[in-house]
Amino acid sequence: MEELKLLPGLLLPWYRAGHRVLPWRETKEPYRIWLSEIMLQQTRVEAVKGYYARFLDILPSVEALANCDDDLLHKLWEGLGYYSRVRNLKKAAQVIMEQHGGVFPREYEDVLALPGIGEYTAGAVCSIAFDQPTPAVDGNVLRVMSRLRDDPAPIDQPAVKKAVTEALRAIYPADAGDFTQALMELGATVCGPNRKPDCEHCPCREICLAYAHGTAETLPVKSPKKEKRQEDRTVFVLSCDGYFALEKRPNKGLLAGLWQFPNVTGKLGTAESLEALSQMGLTPKEIYKEIQRKHIFTHIQWNMTGIYLEVTDRAGNFQWFTADEINTQAALPTAFRQFWEEK
Ligand code: ADE
Repeated sequence: MEELKLLPGLLLPWYRAGHRVLPWRETKEPYRIWLSEIMLQQTRVEAVKGYYARFLDILPSVEALANCDDDLLHKLWEGLGYYSRVRNLKKAAQVIMEQHGGVFPREYEDVLALPGIGEYTAGAVCSIAFDQPTPAVDGNVLRVMSRLRDDPAPIDQPAVKKAVTEALRAIYPADAGDFTQALMELGATVCGPNRKPDCEHCPCREICLAYAHGTAETLPVKSPKKEKRQEDRTVFVLSCDGYFALEKRPNKGLLAGLWQFPNVTGKLGTAESLEALSQMGLTPKEIYKEIQRKHIFTHIQWNMTGIYLEVTDRAGNFQWFTADEINTQAALPTAFRQFWEEK
């Protein structure tokens, strides 16, 4: 598509004339750009802002991140989800300390080699922090490009991402950072997701094939989603004289290394629950209430029954926390925190 060459000339003035003011747009520091891009994967801008400021307050440098305590790290991420992101952040910080003398690498291949950094993040950091012509192709950019090219190929196909990356690489301007941000801005605003595109206010209308053909609203095309696996779980919110039982999840797999309320697979009735608690070495004194909640992960949905009980002793293989300790120290992922908030 020849007209694509005109894209930087259309997008850059539009971006500079007025864009959202965001904390990670006030800096060229690679550490800060990297953190923002990791946080923004799967998470909305508004939700990220508070986490971003707090994280940088407490861990202002690669070195601080490389040396930080894991419980603190999880607490800083609590509620953001996809916790492997933050574990990889720390691993990557350690690699930067050990292999790059504590200085964030500038070479795209070195950035791409860091744990948790894929082509999107490497492209975003190298373009935004170092003004290199490295495209950062995420869902927003794929949507914009599928419309500009009036391309009905499903955007989740790797071949489409590859083609879009190459098409963009060929037209990257010297102001690479602004161009990356401008593409994201267009994809988040006038050409945004889950609503009608605002073509009347689009700076790229004159080169947009979907606009010319009247197909913008039918794009992008996505492959049908796979059904998520469903799993029933019973979650016990156990209290004993103002203390609450938590345990750490295993170091591998879903929500690795985070805290949880004791829980078992299946939807247990009252008799089965009492039996399960007895096997944990606990004697119930009073059942307070039972509530239903669900939590949706990438590949699985948990349908959870939460049972709130007072027990006679702080027994079992658990750590018993005060409410204040749970609030300030233990990283309790949202799947379980929703039961805490209903206490
Ligand atoms: N989404 C992903 N990266 C972003 C950025 N740098 N600014 C705004 N939204 C984004």
